[in-house]
Amino acid sequence: MSEIIVNGGKKLYGGITVQGAKNSVLPVLAATVLCQKECVIHNCPALSDVNTSIKILRALGCGCEAEGNTVTVDSRGINAYEIPDNLMREMRSSIVFLGAIIGRCGRAVISSPGGCELGPRPIDLHLSALERMGVTINEEHGYLICTAEKGLQGAEISLGFPSVGATENIILAAATAKGMTTIHGAAKEPEISDLADFLNSAGARIYGCGSDCIRVYGVERLGGTEHTIIPDRIAAATYMACAAVTGGKITMCNIMPSHMVSTFWVFREAGCEVELSGKSLTLSAPEHLKRVPTVRSLVHPGFPTDAGPIIVAMLTVAEGTSVFVENIFENRFSYVDELKRFGAKIKTEGKIAVTEGVKELSATDCKATDLRGGAALVIAALTAYGESRIGDIHHIERGYDDIVSVLGALGADIKYSKD
Ligand code: UD1
Repeated sequence: MSEIIVNGGKKLYGGITVQGAKNSVLPVLAATVLCQKECVIHNCPALSDVNTSIKILRALGCGCEAEGNTVTVDSRGINAYEIPDNLMREMRSSIVFLGAIIGRCGRAVISSPGGCELGPRPIDLHLSALERMGVTINEEHGYLICTAEKGLQGAEISLGFPSVGATENIILAAATAKGMTTIHGAAKEPEISDLADFLNSAGARIYGCGSDCIRVYGVERLGGTEHTIIPDRIAAATYMACAAVTGGKITMCNIMPSHMVSTFWVFREAGCEVELSGKSLTLSAPEHLKRVPTVRSLVHPGFPTDAGPIIVAMLTVAEGTSVFVENIFENRFSYVDELKRFGAKIKTEGKIAVTEGVKELSATDCKATDLRGGAALVIAALTAYGESRIGDIHHIERGYDDIVSVLGALGADIKYSKD
């Protein structure tokens, strides 16, 4: 059983480079299935979810090698269209392989995707969009058998909610479909633009990413390309919160300020100085963090749902009462009970968490309940005096590239205990 052990109370100082974005690298790896020449992807973070994607690519018959932060994929030898059930269960993002596999093979077989337990995470928007593009979907013994008998056809698709995953799946399916696909009500997250940049550099014709109307003109085939994954805005927010709760000062390189405007606003409201210089940022924390009356998670460019647990953890030691409203997922507060073990005062009801800041947290043993909830516990442990042990860290390893070394480099007293 692996744990992270933290001796809290040390101020964080120094500089780090932020990892590549988890939510970008996974769809980009899925997109390589569509490419008929070698693709070289740089700035890939070392994450268990990236390893799972590599296993999926290999199970499909693709050549896939990782060296440092570069992953090379050669999909010329693809010879399967079914994602093994054990790999589907390992991560939610396995669902974005669906559009790419159907686009390349004309069919796909998948089971229900796994990932963080954040309440119901349906895939109805993905499936109904694919049906509009000519895919027949049959459910048999827990498997979805998807077939595009006459190939994928471009379509007009209106999303009732700007789902990130559904927008990505439609783009992937549309890239080599016959004719034009228009996505109305598309998600605007920066990771979608990164996916489109990757596909366009391999020969696709995708326009309008970053707006709520995306047009994809299907091309006959995609070639190869070289691409660098954008910085991870959620990892950046996590390290900002780590510095903020310890009263420290850190500089981060490799960030995209335009992707993080709503996040900066929250840190500034809490009394932190956030100075930007090109692609780097310096956060200086005040002696005492201030309350942030209300933060609401929203679709981009609003405050990201993934940064919710991170901000709630930070506000446990801010002066006064703060309210966080989770608008994207129904059940994203399971980490709150674990934060309470540190002495945090948080009440939740429905989609609202009310945090009454305490002077200090005390060290405890706890367990990560999900990826970002796990990061919230690391933040709490950094500010709590004494030794905390965080269990079930496989959740954290899904999204953070060696969080222990990164925080250690900033002066945290943190280590792994691995059996
Ligand atoms: C979501 C986040 C994304 C985050 C990712 C990982 C949003 C809008 N999306 O993306 O920023 O990086 O989690 O934690 O913030 N839904 C349906 N039917 C569907 C698909 C989605 O009802 O077919 C609902 C979901 O239940 C949820 C909402 O739409 O309430 C957002 O889902 P979606 O954006 O698809 O989730 P992810 O792609 O996982």
